[in-house]
This record gives sequence, structure tokens and C-alpha cells, in this order.
Amino acid sequence: MIKKDLFIIMKQETIAENIMELTCTSPLTKQMTEPGQFLHLRVDTSEDLLLRRPISICDVDVENETVTMLYRIDGKGTKRLSLKQPGDTINILGPLGNGFPLEATERGETALLVGGGIGVPPLYYLSKQLTERGVKVIHVLGFQNQVNVFYENEFSALGETFIVTADGSYGEKGFVTDVIKQKDISFDTMYTCGPTPMLSALQTAYREKRLYLSLEERMGCGVGACFACVCHVEGDTTQTLYRKVCTDGPVFPVGEVVL
Ligand code: FES
Repeated sequence: MIKKDLFIIMKQETIAENIMELTCTSPLTKQMTEPGQFLHLRVDTSEDLLLRRPISICDVDVENETVTMLYRIDGKGTKRLSLKQPGDTINILGPLGNGFPLEATERGETALLVGGGIGVPPLYYLSKQLTERGVKVIHVLGFQNQVNVFYENEFSALGETFIVTADGSYGEKGFVTDVIKQKDISFDTMYTCGPTPMLSALQTAYREKRLYLSLEERMGCGVGACFACVCHVEGDTTQTLYRKVCTDGPVFPVGEVVL
């Protein structure tokens, strides 16, 4: 059954360069208990599912029925979304997809959460839930440069946090993979979300570990109907097996799909 509602905007503000924080309310938030799932927003008035926009869930207050999403303004649709005001409504489908498995990490173990750019937000709700379960969390968060950095304080309140910028304008310089090695961070489970080259580097370096990757694929319908989001299954020489990021993912265990 497709879950859809008109969410009411409570708050919307800029938190970094071209990064917006949007908080909305709807009774559907009660179902948003799994970190890593996403919402499909219709910014336009068109009914076409393909014009919806997938945005990950950053935080949920189930009791007060609010959900927070962070998104980057990178086109007409998100520009229009950024102009919406408190009290305005947005047609939202969701929660959709399969999120991060919390049970993969036992109480007392350490989880390393690695995010890149707009892949960082879903790790916040994940980190909150892991800490509530008695898991120690460490965050390594990568951004292009200082003006793109967001949620440093929020993550730091939950666990040790390393900010990495590609140009070294803030925090550590380089790639998230460099920092994990330089700091010699040890962990039991790694959860990651970000651009494909980053996921690929992590999948190669930590193939033997407990690793879960959330893919940021271009999506169409978001509900398994259009095949816009398919990726091949690793090791399938026939090239006929695939997974849909929207309904089988967006989170996959290491080695399941070709990145
Ligand atoms: Fe349509 Fe996944 S986005 S099948």
C-alpha cells in the first residue's frame, strides 16, 4: 500500500551553502522508525511520479509527528521547494525503501558511520538510534569545503566526529578513506552513504568487514515500477540479475550490487 499525505511545513532554513533543513508534520511520521529510508516529494503540481524527488530522512520525532530532511538546492525543483514557507504543504510518499540494519551491531560494539556530502543526513537518525541501543558511534563526514559543512555539533553530541574537507579548508584534508586510515579507527560495523566513488572506495577497502552501503541513485517512481534505479548483482556473469535501489535498497550489504 502506498503511503501518501500532504505534509505541513513547520520550519525551513538554510544551514550551509545551498543546503536546506526542512521540518514537516504528518501522522505518517509514526511509521518512520527505520533509519535510512527515504521520502518521495512532489514539488511540482504534476501528478507524474517521475517528477517526484527522493530525499532521505535525517531525523524523526515520532511523538510530535515531525520529520526533518536536509537537501541540496541543485535544480529547478529543489529551488522551488526551498521557497516554501511554514504552513505550506508538500505531497509526500513514504517512508520508502529498506534502511540500515540496526541489529547488525550489538550493544557495546562500535559502529563507524561514514558520510559524504548530501549522503550525511540519513546517518544522523541512524546514529541516534544506535546510541540509544548502547552502540558506540564514530562519525567521519566528508564535504567539499568549509561552507558545505553541516550538523557537526549534532553528530558530535552523539559520538566522536571527524570532519573532512577535500580542500582542507575545515577539519582534516583529503578523502574520508584517508582519515579512517590515518586515525587508525577500529570498528565492528560500518554504515555509509554518499557519492558512488566514495562507496566504491569503501567497498574495496573494507570488503571483509560488516559494511552496509546506502546508494544515492537517480530515481523515478520510487516504488519499483519504472526500473530507473536498477543496479546489477555482483558476480552475475549473465548480466541479468539486478536489484532496484528504491525497493530492494537503498541500503545493501557489502558485495551485493555493482557500484
Ligand atoms: Fe522506479 Fe526504482 S525508481 S523502479
